[in-house]
Amino acid sequence: MAPASTDHKETLPAAAVAQDGSTVAIWETSGAQKRASVQSMFAEIAPTYDRLNGLLSLNLHRRWRGIAVTGLRLSSGGTVADICCGSGDFMTEIRRTVGSSGTVVGVDFCLPMLEQADAKRIPGINLGDALSLPLQSSKFDAATVGWGLRNVPDIDVAHAEIFRVLRPGGRFASIDMAKPRNPMTRAISKFFFNTFSPLLGKLFGCPTAYTYLPESTERFASREDLIASMKKAGFTDCTFRDLMFGNICIHWGTKP
Ligand SMILES: C[S@@+](CC[C@H](N)C(=O)[O-])C[C@H]1O[C@@H](n2cnc3c(N)ncnc32)[C@H](O)[C@@H]1O
Repeated sequence: MAPASTDHKETLPAAAVAQDGSTVAIWETSGAQKRASVQSMFAEIAPTYDRLNGLLSLNLHRRWRGIAVTGLRLSSGGTVADICCGSGDFMTEIRRTVGSSGTVVGVDFCLPMLEQADAKRIPGINLGDALSLPLQSSKFDAATVGWGLRNVPDIDVAHAEIFRVLRPGGRFASIDMAKPRNPMTRAISKFFFNTFSPLLGKLFGCPTAYTYLPESTERFASREDLIASMKKAGFTDCTFRDLMFGNICIHWGTKP
């Protein structure tokens, strides 16, 4: 693993403490407080992350990652950065496309999540922040983010950093949770996630983190706001595709 640029031990507990001493739910935090409490939350759930991810996505997450990677139009030997790489599942999917001659680099600020990737013997992982990537400018053919942008304190800065590290013509893909557009589907999904996600979290001993999932989805930028942020960073050719009845959305863009 690359040298540490961030130390997860500096973080606050799952519910952050406000300046007046009161506790704030993670999904209500912003800025540095959001960064610290998100980092702490992922440190807590790292050992069970893969199992719960499989359960909550009905194991469809691999298929969704495959769709995102196809849209990157990569070829064998490509160079890809996976931001907020966590336990490394996106990196594995990308590796299938770029092959052994390709380069896949992962960045995440949570050491226990990277330790999960390390345990799976995924090479190329680095400790670092999405808002200040420890990566060279104009280097990568593509960049990905899987369920990461919802968690960063400033999406515009994250998009700008991703844009910086891509070479001209490089492609970007981000998969994340979304709110279904159809009101009926939205209500059903909200019920499902508000019920089953915290319940599963409780069974696995981390109820706060899995309450964070529906709460942060509710507060997450819309499809159009994400496109606007991508364009602000300089991306062109910005598109998105809904999956899972609009509960999951993939965004793509190109650095001109
Ligand atoms: C929901 S997990 C997704 C992990 C992985 N991308 C996947 O597809 O399974 C979100 C990851 O984003 C990381 N993360 C959140 N904010 C970050 C930031 N500001 N910089 C780097 N990593 C961050 C967390 O540590 C966590 O590993």
